[in-house]
Amino acid sequence: MPPSLQPLLSPPQIAEAVARLAAAIRQDYAGRQPLLVGVLKGAFVFLADLVRALDMPLSVGFVRLASYRGTGSSGAVQLLCDLQEPVAKRDVLLVEGVVDSGRTAAWLWQHLAAQQPASLRLCTLLDKPARRQVPVQIDYRGFTLPDVFVVGYGLDCNEQYRHLPGLYVLQAPGDTASPRGFEPLLPD
Ligand code: IMP
Ligand code: MG
Repeated sequence: MPPSLQPLLSPPQIAEAVARLAAAIRQDYAGRQPLLVGVLKGAFVFLADLVRALDMPLSVGFVRLASYRGTGSSGAVQLLCDLQEPVAKRDVLLVEGVVDSGRTAAWLWQHLAAQQPASLRLCTLLDKPARRQVPVQIDYRGFTLPDVFVVGYGLDCNEQYRHLPGLYVLQAPGDTASPRGFEPLLPD
């Protein structure tokens, strides 16, 4: 039986969160030209929508990382593609699709902080605090989720489902809890 997709957040709900985040970021970075660093691949749809909602002068760069998870894994993060733009003295805003264990965001934070930016902040569309293994400071957060695996809006499972315009909880076959640990969403 294929995994099932439970609707979680509709495109209008996501758009509302993106507009709210953009309004806060625009206000905080008024008069500055931040460097938005998108974390590939998961954040590419969110970053594209966020940039258009921001409608302000900014620069965009990308990094690509792989994180190893699961039993017996080291939890190590590997940098597959580094940022090409200089970070020193820039106002850097990291843009993540989802913060789960926190390993990727914490690793990136250290990596960028070492390059002496003028400021460094983190924006994530989704936050799963119940999954956290490493502490992460989140400055802009779209939604707080329970311990669920979500796909769509750029997020994948084995490269599937990135194209879906909404967000869905992916449930494995036989996973009868609906969905596991699910609670009402907390939009921040
Ligand atoms: P971390 O565990 O916080 O390091 O998250 C690392 C990466 O795992 C994220 O950038 C995503 O690419 C992926 N990930 C974590 N949770 C989910 C999810 O619910 N759906 C899809 N990808 C996820
Ligand atoms: Mg993935």
